[in-house]
Amino acid sequence: MAFSKNELSDMYGFESPFKPDPIAKRALNYIKNNNKLLDIGCGEGADSVFFAKNGFQVDALDNNAIYLSRLKAYKNDHQISNIFIQNCDVITYNYPKHYYDVVNCILVGCCMRKSEFESLLTSIKQTIKHNGFIIMSLRNYLDPEFIEYSLTEKMIEPNTFLKKDACCKTRYYIEKNRLRDLFKDFEILYYFEGLSPDKYEETEHHGDSYIICKKV
Ligand SMILES: C[S@@+](CC[C@H](N)C(=O)[O-])C[C@H]1O[C@@H](n2cnc3c(N)ncnc32)[C@H](O)[C@@H]1O
Repeated sequence: MAFSKNELSDMYGFESPFKPDPIAKRALNYIKNNNKLLDIGCGEGADSVFFAKNGFQVDALDNNAIYLSRLKAYKNDHQISNIFIQNCDVITYNYPKHYYDVVNCILVGCCMRKSEFESLLTSIKQTIKHNGFIIMSLRNYLDPEFIEYSLTEKMIEPNTFLKKDACCKTRYYIEKNRLRDLFKDFEILYYFEGLSPDKYEETEHHGDSYIICKKV
């Protein structure tokens, strides 16, 4: 049964529309179910649920206990047995080597410092299997908030600011062409850099960089 945004919010406390990111849906054209998928920074878990319902074995990581409790309640009520949820810091987590067929990391690298994102990226490249897929998005230099912060706030690292109000305390805005360059050693299946509608429906659009790529 499909529930409206308000019903889901009343039942589970979801703050965000509980629907998969457009790039998660797009990625289904490339990836195979029954495979091991890691959802890094799963948040309330809309993508984890989407991939689990499409037959993936999902490991979902986040350090926000409230978001994870909402995902747990939804998972239990809907008897979804193929999501394993862990509360951990995704930057320092001990990722198994060459283990996952797919890594999904949506709007998480931008919720930390640039140096932390680049350290996380090294871990992601190591935990993905040969021929495995990475699905990733970050806010970028085109974001209206980046333009505002650049004028009014102090950078704590390149293109990184302390956030004034949001779930995450830090925001890194990835540079022009940077996401594509970081995956030069991968086969790029899809790339987008520009303004896109805000999936959380809080503002009209955001500057985003998206990638789907394959380890070759
Ligand atoms: C903007 S939300 C994105 C959530 C989800 N991926 C989505 O697309 O809706 C960023 C998520 O990353 C998580 N996060 C950020 N830094 C983290 C860290 N160091 N360890 C674990 N989770 C982290 C936050 O708790 C939050 O749930």
